[in-house]
Amino acid sequence: MVSNSDFVGRDIISVGDFGREELLFLLDAADRFESETRPLLAGKVAAALFFEPSTRTRLSFESAMGRLGGCCIGFAEGGVSSQAKGETLADTVRVVEGYGDLILIRHPREGSARLAAEFAGVPVVNCGDGAHQHPTQTFVDLYTMRRECKRLDGLHVVFVGDLRYGRTVHSLVTTLGHFDARLTLVSPSFLRLPKELRRELQEREVDFTEAQKVEPVIADADVIYVTRIQRERFTDPLEFEKAKDAFRIDNTMLHKAQPGVAILHPLPRVNEIPPEVDSHPHAAYFRQAHYGVAVRKAILGLLLGQAGEDTA
Ligand code: NCD
Repeated sequence: MVSNSDFVGRDIISVGDFGREELLFLLDAADRFESETRPLLAGKVAAALFFEPSTRTRLSFESAMGRLGGCCIGFAEGGVSSQAKGETLADTVRVVEGYGDLILIRHPREGSARLAAEFAGVPVVNCGDGAHQHPTQTFVDLYTMRRECKRLDGLHVVFVGDLRYGRTVHSLVTTLGHFDARLTLVSPSFLRLPKELRRELQEREVDFTEAQKVEPVIADADVIYVTRIQRERFTDPLEFEKAKDAFRIDNTMLHKAQPGVAILHPLPRVNEIPPEVDSHPHAAYFRQAHYGVAVRKAILGLLLGQAGEDTA
């Protein structure tokens, strides 16, 4: 049986560290935390070390911290930190653990959050490490799916876009394996889901197929999860040019989908969803961004041991 104590002082580095029951526990906590206004985190400080651009992740964590009476310190780009003077990440983390009760880190290098956790004596939350993982976005995505679809088990989720570099996709596909999902992975062939992840899905007997066109596969989708082409991770600019307008989900295409389909996107979007889709009743991406606050309130409350009564 999962309880609050399973989360206290814990690092959040990889979604692989969270089983089905823990994920459901976290989503239930987010439901409770959505309307939580007590200053449960008064006097607590979160340190946000962001070495890559961010709007939603950093600001929703800051908002969550502020709404629970705590505060956030940090920087939003490495260039203004002592990294610019040659400081190692390990040293930065050893210093910052003395300033905050928890460290939120986003860094372009895969494995950087794990490295930070090795050096920090306070919990570390991976807010995106290169093209690898983005676990708290996955918690937000699962929370959104459960709210929009009124269930989480047995969904048909169609992923569209840059499945090779999209870290939110990498974290979400493995996690959906706990919920008996059927996955359709739509991308150009050079942006397929990485081989190791495909192998992992096969080993875990997750039902998935790959496709190169969206239209034929959306008719029975419960969720369409659209992603941005991750320009900053391409080594070959010509490849990016080929990919950049590969998929666009517009209203004409959505006529072929079920009326209840939920359209998700971790955002930011570029060209892949035109603004005309925003008024579709099931365009859930702005709600998804807003749910980030409830989910991150729950994460902070749980890791810092201030999640209220343990009802388990
Ligand atoms: C994503 C990220 O940073 O990986 N954004 C986010 O956190 N919501 C997606 C992206 O940048 O495309």
